[in-house]
Parts: sequence; structure tokens; C-alpha cells
Amino acid sequence: MTCQKPVYITTPIYYVNDVPHIGHAYTTIIADTISRYSRMIGHDTFFLTGTDEHGQKIEEAAKARGETPQAYADKISATFRNLWDEFEISYDAFIRTTDEAHIKGVQYAFSKMFDKGDIYKDIYKGHYCISCETFFPKTQLVDDEFCPECGKATTIVEEESYFFKLSAYQDKLLAWYNENPECILPKSKRNEVIRFVESGLDDLSITRTSFDWGVKLPESLNDPKHVMYVWLDALMNYLTALGYGNDNNKMKYWPARVHLIGKDILRFHAIYWPAFLMSLDMPLPKHVAAHGWWTRDGQKMSKSKGNVINPKEVADAYGLDNFRYFMLREVPFGGDGDFSQKALIDRINNDLGNDLGNLLNRLIGMSEKYFEGRIDSSNVSKYYQNELDEVIESFNKLEPYLFEMQIHRYLEELWRPLSVANRAIDKYQPWVLMKDGKDEEAMALVALIANILARVSIMLYSVMPSVTKKISASLSFDIDNSSWLRFIKNHELLDTFVISKIPPLFPRIEEPLLAHVEPTSAQEKPKEEKQETKKEDEGIALISIDQFFLTSLKIGTIVEANEVQKSDRLLILQVDIGEDKPRQIVAGIKEFYTPEQLVNTQVCVVANLKPAKLMGNHSEGMLLAAKDENGLHLIRPEAPKRNGTPIK
Ligand code: MSP
Repeated sequence: MTCQKPVYITTPIYYVNDVPHIGHAYTTIIADTISRYSRMIGHDTFFLTGTDEHGQKIEEAAKARGETPQAYADKISATFRNLWDEFEISYDAFIRTTDEAHIKGVQYAFSKMFDKGDIYKDIYKGHYCISCETFFPKTQLVDDEFCPECGKATTIVEEESYFFKLSAYQDKLLAWYNENPECILPKSKRNEVIRFVESGLDDLSITRTSFDWGVKLPESLNDPKHVMYVWLDALMNYLTALGYGNDNNKMKYWPARVHLIGKDILRFHAIYWPAFLMSLDMPLPKHVAAHGWWTRDGQKMSKSKGNVINPKEVADAYGLDNFRYFMLREVPFGGDGDFSQKALIDRINNDLGNDLGNLLNRLIGMSEKYFEGRIDSSNVSKYYQNELDEVIESFNKLEPYLFEMQIHRYLEELWRPLSVANRAIDKYQPWVLMKDGKDEEAMALVALIANILARVSIMLYSVMPSVTKKISASLSFDIDNSSWLRFIKNHELLDTFVISKIPPLFPRIEEPLLAHVEPTSAQEKPKEEKQETKKEDEGIALISIDQFFLTSLKIGTIVEANEVQKSDRLLILQVDIGEDKPRQIVAGIKEFYTPEQLVNTQVCVVANLKPAKLMGNHSEGMLLAAKDENGLHLIRPEAPKRNGTPIK
């Protein structure tokens, strides 16, 4: 057993205004992977997840359904917990911000910060986005009104509020980033945070009076109309889950080894959270690691767009371990990923079926045919030391990749030993060795393959817990701390052992298994990192297919068209692109079309442009058109298409 170092790993706590989707599953699966690995290597690991249940957004969602916030939160929180249980997520605690102990802990923290002089009372005046539960200064708004994060309209808030002296922590935060180059992962994100903090921090409003669904202030403040800002309440979960402000019985796990989050909530975790911790005189987390977003057709997933991917459906159809492997291998940590069944099927058939599954099948076949399944590793080094060295070199590189959240690299590197094994079979051809009477050499080769597969299954366990247990059962060993110590850390070889036959682990998939999850434009996307933009000789910029698919193009029908007063160029159009309501698009086509000519005709719309204002009119998109010496013509589908049909 190695050192029992306490290791604390967290996911964000999920808002209960929405049921779990693929994005939530992604964060949780990464955290589960790191936790499983950490336990396997002997660390005393504590993995926390849970639900974030207070705030205006939840209060409104409950109201809209005619339920009390508590009843509503109970219901949705359970859907998260049930899904993680079905996914066999190895969490050690599931915190809810409505837990009594959490509320007490948050109030305790508030009092401490107040007593320290870091909290004062004033009036908050400004814009608030309920959807993001975030205050924004006017300078950050789009068109003076819209949320820069989600694009929804903000509300103007003017109310009495307690403030946290965030500005007082600016220099200390900058010192933390500078002294700990890996405090924010991937490292590129750290620069974004530094730039933001350097541009100046305003004090943070941390209480609200205009609604009720939140943690009340400590009684000692005697100010019952205030509830705490949901992000203060939520961030504290990382401490209260360890007993902070109560019995402190798990505080040995603090500071966190890693807070896993999505990039959209980096600011809260990389600025507010360390500042709160500094105010509480608590050590800071080792890493805040921000992953990218999963999209469909390059678009954010949302209920209103109806493009949300249900992780359970995907896991049920394709296998949970396969789904886990796909998510972690497909996207470089920190980058965005577009979900498609084609990409998932490719990973299953190629990486898992061809490289891993076939190797196991070949091993089972050879060991049965030549040695009745009984394998002896004693001569592996005598004949195949080069291959062993190559494999050890790869295994030695793995762990840092995992702890630095480069999980796609980890998996890529883990596949190298598999290709060493596949190459060795092709090169040394055990059937020829057997025919030539070189049984000892053939046995050593089969044992080499078995040992490589054993080691790969140990290191793949945290990503694919159930499949790898099947592999290890077939090779008659267990995946646990002692096998990790023997075969990975100390490079020992398996003793004499028996290989037993198991059914193929990755049957080939020919067709998408989920009919209603339509193929997406991402199907044709190359899997590897983005290619650089190159210039052709005549100066036309070449873009990668990835870059092209960043543009969301859709078919729409113009349902209303009007002139913009005092403009020679502009028309205001209402275009139905299959969303809840038509999009308003202001287009410079007045010289070429009258409003009457346009109504009820179909057009091609760029649907993911940042909203803009043209002569005071809000515009949320652009029409495709071609203009030459014969004038301007709109680009239209050859035959009528359903509104919202993606153009690929
Ligand atoms: N409640 C806050 C977190 C508080 S933590 C102290 C919250 N909740 S959330 O439910 O909206 O989001 C939780 C996590 O899911 C975030 O890390 C977010 O980035 C992630 N995802 C939500 N949608 C996602 C995708 N489409 N793709 C990847 N992850 C995304 O924010």
C-alpha cells in the first residue's frame, strides 16, 4: 500500500432547474475517473458531487410548475443522484445546498468574513442575469441590456445588499496565479483569468432582498430580509461537505486536489472562490480545472432548442464504459466537443474494437491453441526486452497526464502499448515460431501480449471500470492497489496464469443505434486537434472543417418584413427558423427586394451570430446572399425545407 494521502475531488453542484444532460455527465465522469485512479494508487480519496438548489432561477422554475421550491428541488436532485447511481459514479458524498448542515456552515463562513471586516452593507444598482445568476457591469452587456454569457435579457436590480470586498483581494489573487502556474488548468485559461483580474475587480454583491429562496444571514446580523447570493452559498459546499462550520470531521481532505468545472463557471471558481477562502484564512485548492462545452451542431444544448442529449439514452444504447471512453478520448480537455453518433461509433469500432478487443481475442485464441490457456511469463525479458522497455516508457508517462487533466493524452499514450503488442504479433508471428519448434519463444510472445493487456487494463480501469474488470478476469488477476503496485509501479510480470475465454467485448456497430438522435454536422469532422489556417497561393484563407462547422446555418421562412424608417438599405425581417418565436433579422437588402416579395419565402440564415444593433434595431442573424453586377440575390433552398433544417 502506498501513502494514504488525502485527496479531495469535486464536481460542480448542479442546478436543479434542469435534468441531467451530457454536459453534466461529462464533468461527473471526469471526476469519477480521477477519483477511481486516485483510490487505486492508494490515496485516501474523497469525491464530492451534489446539487445547487437555491436562488431566483430555481424559485422561478418551481413557481412555473406550481410547486414549492423545496418539493421541486427534492425531485430534480433525486434525478441527478439516481443517474449517478445508475452510472456507478463512485462519489463519497452527495451534498444538497438545502441540507441543514450546509446552511449552518455557510452562515458560519458569512459571520467569519463579516467579523474580519470583508463584508459591508450598501445599495446594489445594476444588471442581473437570472439565468446565469450573475451580476454584470453595464460595460460587459451586449447592447446595454443582454447577458454576455447566455444572451438573455438582464433585469435591473436596485436593492440594499451586503458586499464582499473582492477588490481588496486583487493583488493576492494575482500573486496566487503567478506563484502557482498550475492552479488553473488548462494553463491557457489562467491567462484569461489574470487579464480579467488585472482589469480591476469590483466588490461583489452577496445578498439579495427581492426573493426568498436562499440561505438567510446569520442571526447575529438580525437582518432577515436578506438571503445569500446563490454563488456564495454554492461555492461554500466544497467546505461544508467536509463538516466546515459543524463537526469538521473531514477537514483533513482540504484543500481540494481539483475542482472540476466547465469553462462557463471559471470566473466563480478562479476569482470569487479563492478570494472567499483567503478571507476565511483557508488554504487554496491545488487545481481548478475547466473543461469545454459539448454542443450539437455547434450550438449550445438547451431544452428550448430541443437538442439536448440524454446521457442515459446514449449509455444504454452504446454501453456505459464505451460512452465514458468516447467522452474522455474525443475532446482535448478544455476544448469544446460536438456530439455525434458517428464519432462515437468510430471510437467504439476502431480504438476499442480493433485495437483493444481484437488484441484480446487474438491472445485468447493463441493461448488456447498453443498452450491450452496456461501462460508463463518467465522468458519474456529474454526475448522481448525491447518491447517491454517501449511499453514501460509509455506507462511511466501516464500518471502526470491524468492529474494534469490531459485525459485525452493519457488515453492516446495508453494505446501505444496496444500497438506495440499488435506489432509484435505481426512481426514475430507466433504461428511460425510454433511451426519452427520455437515453443519457448512463442510462449514468451504470448505472455508479452498478456502482460501488456493486463497493464493496459489496470490503467484503463478508471475510465472503463466494468470492461477492464472483464479483461482482468479473463487473465485471472484483480485490478486493485496491489496489482497496480506490482505490474505498473514495479514493472513485475504476471506469474504463471490461466487465460479464459470471454465473449467479444466490443461487437462491431454498423448503424447509429439511436434513431431520433439525428446525425449531426459533426459526423464528418476530423477527430484530431484543429488544423492551422493556411493560405492558398491566390490568397484565399483555407479553414479546417472544424472551423467551418462553427457557423450554424439554417433554413428559415420570412414571416414578416418591414422597412426601417430613414434607411435606404435596411429591412427588418421576422424569420422562423424553427425556434419558439421568429428571429428578428435586420438585412441590408432594401434596394433589391420589397417587403411583399419576401414574406413567405425561404432563406438561409446564419443562426449563431452575436446579436447586433442596426440603426437601433436588434438583429439576431444574417441572411446568405450573392451579389454581382446583376444585383443581389438571396440564397434559397432548391425545394421547401422544414424551418430550422441545418445546412451542411
Ligand atoms: N450550480 C452551478 C455550479 C455551482 S458549483 C459551486 C452550475 N450548475 S449547472 O448545472 O448549470 O452546470 C454545472 C456544470 O455543468 C458546469 O460545470 C457546466 O459547465 C457544465 N455544463 C453544463 N452544460 C454543459 C455542456 N453542454 N457541456 C459541458 N459542460 C456543460 O453552473
